[in-house]
Amino acid sequence: MIPRIYIPGDSGALALGAEKVAKAIRAELAERGIEAKIVRNGSRGAYFLEPMVEVATAEGRVAYGPVKPSDVKSLFDSGFLKGGHHKRWLGAPDKIPFLAKQTRLTFARCGINDPLSLDAYKSLGGLKGLQNAVAMAPLDIVKQVTESGLRGRGGAGFPTGIKWKTVLDTAGERKYIVCNADEGDSATFADRMIMEGDPFVLIEGMAIAGIATGATKGFVYIRSEYPHAVAVMNKAVEVARKAGVLGVNVLGSPNAFDMEIRVGAGAYVCGEETSLLNSLEGKRGVVRAKPPLPAIQGLFGKPTVINNVISLASVPIIMDKGAAFYKDFGMGRSRGTIPIQIAGNVKHGGLFETAFGLTLGEIVDDIGGGTATGRPVKAVQVGGPLGAYFPRALFDTPFDYEEFAKRDGLIGHAGITVFDDTADMLKQARFAMEFCAIESCGKCTPCRIGSTRGVETIDRLAAGIEPEKNLALVTDLCNTMKFGSLCALGGFTPYPVMSSITHFPEDFKPAPARVAAE
Ligand SMILES: Cc1cc2nc3c(=O)[nH]c(=O)nc-3n(C[C@H](O)[C@H](O)[C@H](O)COP(=O)(O)O)c2cc1C
Ligand code: SF4
Repeated sequence: MIPRIYIPGDSGALALGAEKVAKAIRAELAERGIEAKIVRNGSRGAYFLEPMVEVATAEGRVAYGPVKPSDVKSLFDSGFLKGGHHKRWLGAPDKIPFLAKQTRLTFARCGINDPLSLDAYKSLGGLKGLQNAVAMAPLDIVKQVTESGLRGRGGAGFPTGIKWKTVLDTAGERKYIVCNADEGDSATFADRMIMEGDPFVLIEGMAIAGIATGATKGFVYIRSEYPHAVAVMNKAVEVARKAGVLGVNVLGSPNAFDMEIRVGAGAYVCGEETSLLNSLEGKRGVVRAKPPLPAIQGLFGKPTVINNVISLASVPIIMDKGAAFYKDFGMGRSRGTIPIQIAGNVKHGGLFETAFGLTLGEIVDDIGGGTATGRPVKAVQVGGPLGAYFPRALFDTPFDYEEFAKRDGLIGHAGITVFDDTADMLKQARFAMEFCAIESCGKCTPCRIGSTRGVETIDRLAAGIEPEKNLALVTDLCNTMKFGSLCALGGFTPYPVMSSITHFPEDFKPAPARVAAE
């Protein structure tokens, strides 16, 4: 049998040198006159081990990582094509602790095979959810998604089934499914991983959404910084169309659904759903006032489902295994699994899919392995640039929408950024205001003006000018932004600012004391 070697083509692995490793392996195969099949898979998400090369052996797959081009000769010498021992040997990929501890439902197939092989997708259970859906009445599909407890993974955590029901119940000569793949939050890469590593699961989820709501056309809005994801998704749509997964008769049924990929122009606010719709329509990415909800008047004024990549990619398993199966995972009102993206100053950075309910401490210390620098963890920002900074004192918080809200935090798109004790939280608070000022769409005053005044006030605090007065002013400003902004960009910027002030007051001491303390 010809040996089979798996080398990730995912952009995270490529950034870590996967292409150079592939080149070195090809050269070594040629020099040794060995015939082998190289498969470019996605990434399984253990980025601290990328580039992770795998070989298929009689006993199953064996992984090696992180592989450098300079390791390649010795890998061949060690007989790695048969799973031989080497300093980069990791054993069976699903036994690597970071991967073995996960509960992979949405990411069950991600990174295992060639992402564009529909046969490989089907061999691992793909399309079963869609097959079930085409045989069901739309309302029954909506009911199943509602009963599963699935909530939007884009940030707001709104129940997906309820959104779909509104679109189903709204009359329209045309309806749309829009997938939000703008993924602008810091520390997040789950959407990209799915699009590059298992694109058919997203296509399947969108087709199910279309059949459930009566929408016949879908768009995936992908940020311009994701060229690999755009390329894979475009090819996957072509493959799906040729195979009859998309088109006038989805899987041979009377349901029509087709889709297109669109590329954004690179504004954070275009991840906000109404701004995204404007951008898709070719207009400037400015937030629209609600109502009307996009579910009633969305893209081109028609009823539209807008869902995040992970929300849609979680639907196939729900339609395959049933609502009760999915709902069985999780805690409280946070049901199912969540792909936590661990990044920043952390030893084991990567994607960790698990049922809701792990504590923040377990995620950072046990799974993330603490900081990469080896220094104590000072703060963890959860939920992207608009998320709160949590100190170690809050590490007992379970990963759950309501539990985070109780402690003035948010889960957002489940990205977490770890900081060690060298972080200056006044600088982080300033950064939050500056980010808001740069990314503000400008439609409402609290955000447009407030963020700039926020930067100036924090600068005065840093300079030790009237500290008490300026601290009160920042707090007042945050209240105005929180309650007076039209969307969550201005409305949530107070979270990183106020959490920094509340949990790390020592960093907001007047300048002379700060200097003396350093
Ligand atoms: C400033 C801002 C940026 C956002 N960026 C994203 C994003 O990149 N991806 C995303 O799915 N949702 C983003 N959202 C949330 C969307 O507005 C919307 O809630 C989401 O796409 C709905 O899908 P879901 O219900 O599946 O989460 C953002 C919201 C705001 C206010
Ligand atoms: S809060 Fe900011 S981004 Fe949102 S509508 Fe207002 S100005 Fe635009």
